[in-house]
Amino acid sequence: MKGTTEVLLNEKKIYKPSDKVLKNAKIKQWRAVQKKAAKDPVRFWDEAANDLDWYSYWGQTFDDSNAPFFKWYVGGKCNIVQNCLDRHMGTPVENKTAIIWESDAGKRRKLTYKQLNQAVCKMANGLKFLKIKRGDRVAIYLQNIPETAIAMLACAKIGAVHSVVYAGFSANALRERIDDQGAKILITSDVGHRRGKVIDMKSLTDKAISGSPSIQNVIVVRQGTGPVTMKMNRDIYYDALVDTQPSICRTEQMDSEDPLFILYTSGTTAKPKGVVHVHGGYMVGLNRTFQWVMDVRPDDVYWCTADPGWITGHSYIVYAPLMAGITTVMFEGVPDFPRPDRIWKIIEKYKVNILYTAPTLIRALMCYGEKWPMKYKMKSLRLLGSVGEPINPEAWRWYHKFVGKNKCPIMDTWWQTETGMFMISPLPSMPLKAGSATLPFPGIKAEVVDKKGNKVPVGKGGYLAIKTPWPAMLRTIFKNPKRYIDTYWKESPGYYHTGDMAHKDKDGYFWIQGRSDDVLSIAGHRIGNAEIESALVSHKSVAEAGVIGKPHPVKGESAKAFVILRRGVKGTDILIKTLKKHIRTKLGPIAVTDEIEFVEKLPKTRSGKIMRRVIKAAELGQDLGDTSALAD
Ligand code: WT7
Repeated sequence: MKGTTEVLLNEKKIYKPSDKVLKNAKIKQWRAVQKKAAKDPVRFWDEAANDLDWYSYWGQTFDDSNAPFFKWYVGGKCNIVQNCLDRHMGTPVENKTAIIWESDAGKRRKLTYKQLNQAVCKMANGLKFLKIKRGDRVAIYLQNIPETAIAMLACAKIGAVHSVVYAGFSANALRERIDDQGAKILITSDVGHRRGKVIDMKSLTDKAISGSPSIQNVIVVRQGTGPVTMKMNRDIYYDALVDTQPSICRTEQMDSEDPLFILYTSGTTAKPKGVVHVHGGYMVGLNRTFQWVMDVRPDDVYWCTADPGWITGHSYIVYAPLMAGITTVMFEGVPDFPRPDRIWKIIEKYKVNILYTAPTLIRALMCYGEKWPMKYKMKSLRLLGSVGEPINPEAWRWYHKFVGKNKCPIMDTWWQTETGMFMISPLPSMPLKAGSATLPFPGIKAEVVDKKGNKVPVGKGGYLAIKTPWPAMLRTIFKNPKRYIDTYWKESPGYYHTGDMAHKDKDGYFWIQGRSDDVLSIAGHRIGNAEIESALVSHKSVAEAGVIGKPHPVKGESAKAFVILRRGVKGTDILIKTLKKHIRTKLGPIAVTDEIEFVEKLPKTRSGKIMRRVIKAAELGQDLGDTSALAD
């Protein structure tokens, strides 16, 4: 960590916005806007809500009477789908392309706003036909295909709560999430496609829900041509369900504080947290941040390369771009298949104006050399974005030079599943520094504090914390309000605790340094050390396991497991392979550790807790720090 701080502090060059960028930027006087918002954040968010449609207005903008269970736009009636679709109907937007989808194999599909609206209405009616009502939970386990967005919007339209599970998660992980939320329906596909290979999704989901007490029906989106095993009275093809449904469906009028979705994310224990977001505040936060940070114009083609299974996909592939009435690109494939120019090709093909991606993708493509992006002019590009982990200055500069051709500002957006929206991010008119997410978004008060909640001096590292609530914040952890309080409102007294470390420079710019807690960020994907340990320990050969993160040139971080085997078990290479496979089955490919080392002992506290910090320091050859809690 020390190393990173030094590198970052030496990063002095300031990238000023060009005249062209400044001239066109929606927010030019960003300092004045920030100052005004800081004086009265509630008023700022009250005004922001007027950019959207409401069935009836709220009485109270912000309610903290039951802190930390904050409420926004209390008494208001709305539906995010009204703002994503309904309000565009009968306007010129209805004939605009809402979604451009490119498949793994390079096939293209386009849906206008009108077509998307019809598809959503049909699906919503289909869900109603299957007896789904307001408040019911619907699990979605699909790849990056238009039906994922259609399913999400259809749920929201009728007031059902969707929960998208990333298609890279294993059957076990899917099962755990379905059980926790008590989902009545699972929407999945027969197969998925990746790198030209076919993935059998249906068998996997069958395994996940076998004996499930809550699942009543499975809706299967047909993506392949082969035979599919369908269970009588439970499974139904998506086409068969929606084809006969009317293409009109009334949008449910929701309370601002009614839940919109549950999205599971990793924490410091083995059990993932069901983060709950609501209609009202979420839509306002998304709309304002997207409009200002991405500086969208009505005819923009915008591409976020994330997967809808993560918060980035929820907020900024599906909801925010549709509210803005622009074209959002969805891409099923991977960046280097069939060749390492896939991303640049798609940008030229669809004349993408805004590209929003992750440092791990940039670093992976850097490995193939700049000759690939240099072949493409990518003239349409105007703005770039980055998210998921700190972007190292080298990657930032490469992105700026070879992708943005030195003319596109990079919006390094810091936020989380829990925050729902961008929290620390530049606006295009601001001076940039490579590797800094710059300043809090107007209306957001971020600080760097110590364990007691005191602000730390400039240049000194500490915990990144947020002082005042914001509309798109999570409302609770599903069925676990105590965990909500303990995780976010106890660690940094007086603040929302982010779990990240950061420091501020003399200009007030934030430099995020990574997680302070036991959560890994592998290729920008969040996974708890404890989740991997628990998966390992569930194998019959393993007695104990300690998992740490190690710096990785492309993935940012990679996991290494230290394993104590049960008595009599031999630590062979074959066992390493078996254990890796076991993690894959339990959690999914993203959680597989790069290395597994068999050890006799692990450093523990007297109470028997494995000290990951000490293992990590030893592994990286660093100072072991305070070891007074060690048992021996
Ligand atoms: C964690 C949240 C919300 C986007 C996707 C990840 C890290 C995210 C940045 C950034 C430095 C970042 C943090 C954060 N992170 N964006 N621009 N700079 N770090 O969502 O899975 O909830 O993970 O991702 O560590 O806490 P997530």
